[in-house]
Amino acid sequence: MFRHLSRDDQMEEMGMHLDVPYVPTHESVVKGMLELAGVDADDVLYDLGSGDGRIPVAAALDHGASAIGVEIDSGRVGLARAYAEQMGVEHKVAFLELDLFEVDFSPATVVTMYLLHTVNLELRPRLLAELRPGSRIVSHAFDMGDWRADRKVSFKSDALYLWIVPARVAGTWQWQTADGTRYRVELQQRYQKLIGELWINDELAELETALLWGDLLELVVQKEQDYEPESIVFHCQDEQLTVVSENQKGAVARRVAAATDDKQIDGV
Ligand SMILES: C[S@@+](CC[C@H](N)C(=O)[O-])C[C@H]1O[C@@H](n2cnc3c(N)ncnc32)[C@H](O)[C@@H]1O
Repeated sequence: MFRHLSRDDQMEEMGMHLDVPYVPTHESVVKGMLELAGVDADDVLYDLGSGDGRIPVAAALDHGASAIGVEIDSGRVGLARAYAEQMGVEHKVAFLELDLFEVDFSPATVVTMYLLHTVNLELRPRLLAELRPGSRIVSHAFDMGDWRADRKVSFKSDALYLWIVPARVAGTWQWQTADGTRYRVELQQRYQKLIGELWINDELAELETALLWGDLLELVVQKEQDYEPESIVFHCQDEQLTVVSENQKGAVARRVAAATDDKQIDGV
């Protein structure tokens, strides 16, 4: 019926709209993407726009991960399922014939994408809001605008980008250590970048660094000029920050004031 039509026309005829044309990632680049994300057997990988299934199949075959491919083109979904079976990983891999803008990718610990800059930007708010902090995102060739990548590597003639989804820590937090010392920190956040101010027993102290790496937050505080700065590392979960570094271990910080718009940083 479609013999006189191009493949794109055929897709439109079938009511299928492609936001990105099919261009496969070279197998060696697939390897680089999975290594950059540090995929392992505990991961659940989602490839958004999975084409012939090569990324999910490689994630299962070479890294032991569970993987889901999301693809709108039913023909390619069929090919991907056959490929997974041929490689013996059909029990670890599934392909969903869905629009990537409509799929729930929140179970993912790793998301891979070879889409377009505009599509990445459209997905960005959902990736930030719906993925768990610490999840990794790897994009082949296209960045995410002013959400700067945590790592960018050149791979053959391609750029590969890695982002670690940051916890949302903007606002004011308070905690107390076992010896009764009271801490308060006010953090402003833009993506993974932080700036802030810190008080110890209501006296302003020097906050040298505030670093966010997924669900880990490090504050480096200069308490008194003559002493080494103190590094306090927190694990961020469920609206609380729990100290995991030896000093202050187990102390819990609670958010006492939410972030306001003016606590967003511009230009960092
Ligand atoms: C550039 S290819 C990448 C294929 C594969 N991820 C790879 O790297 O080899 C983009 C894929 O996205 C699919 N695609 C385009 N728009 C889509 C949409 N709205 N929902 C799901 N898949 C889509 C295309 O059919 C195509 O297979």
